[in-house]
Order: sequence, then structure tokens, then C-alpha cells
Amino acid sequence: MGAERVKLGVIGVGGMGAGHCKTCEGIEEIELAAVSDVSPARAQEVGEQFGVPHFSDHKELIGAGLADAVVIATPHWSHPPIAVDAFEAGLHVLSEKPIGVSIGMAEKMAEAAKKSGKVFSVMFQMRTTAAVRKAIELVRTGELGEVKRTLLVSPEFRSQAYYNSGTWRATWAGEGGGVMLNQAPHIMDVFVELGGLPARVTGYCRTQMHDIEVEDHAEAMLEYENGATGFFHVSTCEIGERTLEIVGDKGKLRLVGGKLSFCRFVPSLSEFNRTNTEMWGSPKVEEVDLEIEECEHGHQVVLRDFARAILHGEPLVAPGEVGLGSLELANAIILSSKKGAPVELPIDRGEYDKLLEELCATSKFKGDWDATSVETDPAFKKKKK
Ligand SMILES: NC(=O)c1ccc[n+]([C@@H]2O[C@H](COP(=O)([O-])OP(=O)(O)OC[C@H]3O[C@@H](n4cnc5c(N)ncnc54)[C@H](O)[C@@H]3O)[C@@H](O)[C@H]2O)c1
Repeated sequence: MGAERVKLGVIGVGGMGAGHCKTCEGIEEIELAAVSDVSPARAQEVGEQFGVPHFSDHKELIGAGLADAVVIATPHWSHPPIAVDAFEAGLHVLSEKPIGVSIGMAEKMAEAAKKSGKVFSVMFQMRTTAAVRKAIELVRTGELGEVKRTLLVSPEFRSQAYYNSGTWRATWAGEGGGVMLNQAPHIMDVFVELGGLPARVTGYCRTQMHDIEVEDHAEAMLEYENGATGFFHVSTCEIGERTLEIVGDKGKLRLVGGKLSFCRFVPSLSEFNRTNTEMWGSPKVEEVDLEIEECEHGHQVVLRDFARAILHGEPLVAPGEVGLGSLELANAIILSSKKGAPVELPIDRGEYDKLLEELCATSKFKGDWDATSVETDPAFKKKKK
């Protein structure tokens, strides 16, 4: 591609999408080219504010030939079908998180990306922080050794006033899930990146404190392929520091309130266990002084990185396909909780879509906008207006 700047269309210009339009002003590799929103008034308002053409149908924006790439910042349900339209038209795609609400639909998005050969990224800006970059490096370079145990406790407090701020919020038809689909996907993404996906989960989802349809409290016992285990708790009923812990054979990594620490076991747990002859012996635990250089982080880094991948083929900090991991985990925990039984991963896509369809049928949300009015998976087509 010869152009110096990526011409970007932003689809869905509510809170986050309008924020991305603003952020683009500070990125020299990006030129905001057009916006679209199912609300014509909103599309016009934001289009005029940024001096770019506006559309009320994402297909018109895609077909107008104004944009090389799109950012999708619509409610979660519509991310996969809009992305598929964009990839099929030869555009690059950066999707907001979560990449979808059902793993089956999200896989169709990833397949369309692969088929098109275009750049696919996801707005997981937590990956851009220095601590998370370092934690990923520690795992990838084998510093932790084989994973033995994982822990995620993520309080994501929201009040009833937050939930009342939008009719789509915290409804099955509007969001397709609760805390695991909206507030926790960033930390869940990091958790899955560092510890891997479990092979089996036993989930307990509750609506504990709020007057909403979906879960505000989710817990799970995790079992990994190698016999490792984990505990998972995310909630909008609780406030405090996010705590993530991965214990490996060679060391333990902790990410608490965004601060990373790492200690090494000398020698490794398995080696010490094999070689030690002292009744009360245990390996040394050495705190490692991590050199973490602060770096620019946030939405603008993911946006710039997306543009540089398009222009210069640079690697992405948040490739779109990574969005599948945290979504598979969220779907598995909801499925297990609803069944009252453990479920194996990968989950049965058809079974989960059927469950979602049943939950949507009970949903109060009928839609000012209708996120499922765009092309969707056949399982949901009958929900179209
Ligand atoms: N990465 C982050 O930090 C972050 C933060 C907030 C929200 N988000 C994500 O951004 C997405 C949007 O959230 P929000 O808070 O901006 O919601 P919002 O309600 O403020 O905005 C959504 C907008 O999309 C429009 N819309 C709905 N369906 C559409 C369609 N099919 N085509 C075009 N426009 C459509 C709505 O009219 C609305 O203007 C969600 O998926 C959310 O998870 C990400």
C-alpha cells in the first residue's frame, strides 16, 4: 500500500466511537474519512463535528470507497456481522471488545479476516501497558515454566445508575451477557494470554446486586489440560484491585492493581521435589527485580499500531484472533452455570447459540437500535425486524 495515511471509517459513534474519532486527530498515520451510526442524527452530529461524510448504514460507508479500514464501535452483537461485511469488501478491521457475544459468530469473523488477508485487530488496550507487555514476555520466554495454578479476582464495580444509563445495557438481547462481556474482557484477555485456556470449567453466574438480566457476578473453577487448576471471580458488585496470579513450575507472576511482580523458584518446584532429601526443605523464592520501562499506552496505541500494520506490515499488539480466547471462556462459564454442570472447552457452538437465543427471547430489550438487524449468524436471523 503506497498511501502514507490510512483512511479510516468509524462505525458506531456513541461514547466510544466518538472518542476514537477524537483520538485519530492525534495519530499521523490515520485520516478520519467517514462515520456511520444507525441513529442518523448521531451520525450527522459526529460527521459535522469532525468534518467528514456520515452514513446511517454501515454498508453505505463500506461501499462508498472512502475508507481503507474501519473501527467498529457498535454494541457487541453487531461486531461480527459488520466485520464480515467489511472484510468481504476488502477493508481492514479494528473491532471494539468483545469481538462478539458468541464464540461461533466470532469465529466466522476471524475466518472472514483470514480469507480476506486484511489486517484484523481488537481494541484490547490493556495489552499496551508496560506491565502487561512484560508479563507476556516472561511467559513467552519460558520464565514461569509449566503452569500449575491460576487466579483472577477482578472487581469491576458499577452502580445501578450506570446500568440505567442505556436500555441495551445488561440485557441479553442488548449485550449478550454481563460483567464477562462488558467490564471484564480486558483483564480476561490478559488472563487467557498468560495462563492459557482451561480444558474444563465449572461456572457459577449470579445477578447479585443489580436490577439487570445478565450476570453481575461470575465465578468458576478452571481445570487445564496438564492438570493445573485455577479460580476465577469477576464482579461489578465489588470494588478493589484486580489481582491476577499465574504460578508456574519455575516461578510466580502477580499483576495486582496494574503492578507486576515476579519471583523465581530455585530450583524449580519439580526439580526440587525430585532431588531434595530434607524433610522440611523447599526451593528458594527469589524476588526478581523487573526492568519495566514505562511506555505510552491506551486506545491511541492500538489505533496507531493498527495503522502501522496496514501501512508497513508491523506486528499487532492486539491481533483480532486473540479476542476468541476470552470470549470462549466467558461463553463456557455462562453455559456451565446455566447447565449446572462442568463444560469442556472448546464448547459446543450450536448449544451455546441455542442457549443465547432462549435467553434473548426472555429479554426486556427490544431495541431503539437493533444490533441484530444487520446480517448475523443464521441462528439469529429470525430475530431480524
Ligand atoms: N475499549 C474500551 O475501553 C471500551 C470502552 C467503552 C466501550 N467499549 C465498547 O465499545 C462498544 C460501544 O460501546 P459504547 O459505550 O460506545 O456504546 P454507546 O451506546 O455509547 O454507542 C453505541 C453506538 O452504536 C450505534 N449503533 C448501534 N448499532 C449500530 C449498527 N449496527 N451500525 C452502526 N451504529 C450502530 C448506536 O446508535 C450508538 O450511537 C461496545 O462494544 C463496548 O464494549 C470499549
